Amino acid sequence: MNTTTHNPLLCVESLNFKVNDLEILRDINLSINDKEFVCIVGASGCGKTTLLRMMAGLLSPTRGHVSYRGQQVVGPHREIAVVFQDYAKALLPWRTVAGNVSLALEGCDVPAVERPQRIHDLLCKVGLEDRAEAFPVQLSGGMQQRLQIARCLAQSPQLLLMDEPFGALDAMTRQTLQDEVTRLCRDSGVTVVFITHDLEEAIYLGDRVISMEKMPGKIGETLVIDLPRPRDQLTTRENTKFLAYRHQLFKLLPSGH
Ligand SMILES: Nc1ncnc2c1ncn2[C@@H]1O[C@H](COP(=O)(O)OP(=O)(O)O)[C@@H](O)[C@H]1O
Ligand SMILES: [Mg+2]
Repeated sequence: MNTTTHNPLLCVESLNFKVNDLEILRDINLSINDKEFVCIVGASGCGKTTLLRMMAGLLSPTRGHVSYRGQQVVGPHREIAVVFQDYAKALLPWRTVAGNVSLALEGCDVPAVERPQRIHDLLCKVGLEDRAEAFPVQLSGGMQQRLQIARCLAQSPQLLLMDEPFGALDAMTRQTLQDEVTRLCRDSGVTVVFITHDLEEAIYLGDRVISMEKMPGKIGETLVIDLPRPRDQLTTRENTKFLAYRHQLFKLLPSGH
């Protein structure tokens, strides 16, 4: 894949971030192309969340900038949605499943009369149509994360930023959600930046995997993942190319990762 396309969807240029004298991110440059699925991996504390927050317009860099469709990102953008690891904090506990999705539709000024159908369609997409009247606390972790994803999709985003979204889930749920997110994003043509510290997850999902180094956080290597789609939890993970990428990434990222 050509990673130097002239019109990337998102562009991070010469981005630096310091807190007092502490340098957290140094000279980050990267471009995300339309409909690409890009994974960013790196050890805990290397600055992944900080970088993602800057891409989302939730935090300003000390130097450099982020642009989306050629416009500088200076605050949250309606076409950019964020899925956080901590689904419990991201959901409103006093609103039902349907109410949580409705919130995003209200935020996008979708007329009240259209909301019930839109909510139903979104809940069907993530397999929660039977739980519309439940409260978040009554759902499993995987279901809560599905709900957060449905709420993000309600915004009809063009770019989905995901910060270790499956980090708190058990291995089986995680694999199911990996496949669901891939399918949802492909079907709706959404571009994804997916942060994880799980190297195999990154290879399984990504068109490209970018590694980050720590202290200060900077971009390391980029791997273009040339594995066929749709991917499959068994055959893709047994593909010799998958194993070669895994080997390459494990060598790049220091032990204790
Ligand atoms: N506002 C802040 N003030 C001080 N330190 C911060 C701030 N934001 C992030 N950091 C530090 O920057 C580093 C990167 O944090 P973070 O982006 O959360 O890393 P990651 O998501 O890769 O684990 C950490 O060492 C963290 O303590
Ligand atoms: Mg983080």
